[in-house]
Amino acid sequence: MLSDVIDLLADPVDGTDLSAGDEQWRTVVSESGHSYDVARQGYVTLVGGSGLRYSGDDASMIDARETFLSGGHFAPFVESVTHNVEAVLDDAALGADARPAIVEVGAGTGYYLSHTLDTVENSRGVGLDVSTAAAKRLASAHPRVGAVVADAWSQLPLRDSSTDAIMVVFAPRNAAEFARVLSPKGEVVVLTADAGHLAELREPLGIIDVEKGKVERMIAQASGHLEPVASSQIVEFTMNLDQASIAAQIGMSPSARHIHPDVLRERIAELPDSMEVTARAAITRLKPLR
Ligand SMILES: C[S@@+](CC[C@H](N)C(=O)[O-])C[C@H]1O[C@@H](n2cnc3c(N)ncnc32)[C@H](O)[C@@H]1O
Repeated sequence: MLSDVIDLLADPVDGTDLSAGDEQWRTVVSESGHSYDVARQGYVTLVGGSGLRYSGDDASMIDARETFLSGGHFAPFVESVTHNVEAVLDDAALGADARPAIVEVGAGTGYYLSHTLDTVENSRGVGLDVSTAAAKRLASAHPRVGAVVADAWSQLPLRDSSTDAIMVVFAPRNAAEFARVLSPKGEVVVLTADAGHLAELREPLGIIDVEKGKVERMIAQASGHLEPVASSQIVEFTMNLDQASIAAQIGMSPSARHIHPDVLRERIAELPDSMEVTARAAITRLKPLR
């Protein structure tokens, strides 16, 4: 709930602290007097200036993501992200009564954040996404998640040095803002698709491969604000996917926007009833340059 994370949130216009505007949490207000409505589903849109420039994943992509992830096909990815966040928090040696603050940027349905919150005792999380369809899911994803609609490319509606760990899973990264909001021992855990991910589906479905050197480019783009704590680790495994799961996988990805649904349906129908598909990503811990 928003009440679990309000002490992390900041006004997107001027960065002043936010607090509840009334006892029912219908609004949150900033010290400078700006007021933001809390939607009846429980999320708050924290966007300043000219409003949102992106809409993010639409409702059908979020539905497809929920369907695919609920099949457990990405379990090794979620385990690895949670394990790395735990390592960050262990290394930070927060006190016994700490309530670790975890933010997921581009959180989607909250699958990764919820798993991590379940694993890390006393933790609470902000699920931040530019998509209102995602925020609706995030608001009910976990009792200790506060759901926020915000743009990762703008000033994040988070207080300076407030966040113990940031998770980014196949989502945008704003290195300068991450460095600003991380606590002194805080780190970012990034999961990035790597070349070979979904390799068996690329040619038959006509979807573009992950470009080589993507992780290296991500690290180079973050330099100046963040640096790797250690070498990236590859997480690779084989999934057994039936046609419905493949349709959900493609439906939750950008490919869904580039291929006509009828064409996609025809191509999926020509695949075997079930097939082995490679999942491959790199996981990287990054810390702010101090
Ligand atoms: C590929 S999905 C990953 C979702 C989630 N991390 C997962 O793996 O299940 C990317 C997510 O980033 C969100 N997104 C895209 N652009 C964004 C932006 N500028 N700011 C915040 N979120 C954004 C999308 O709406 C979508 O939910």
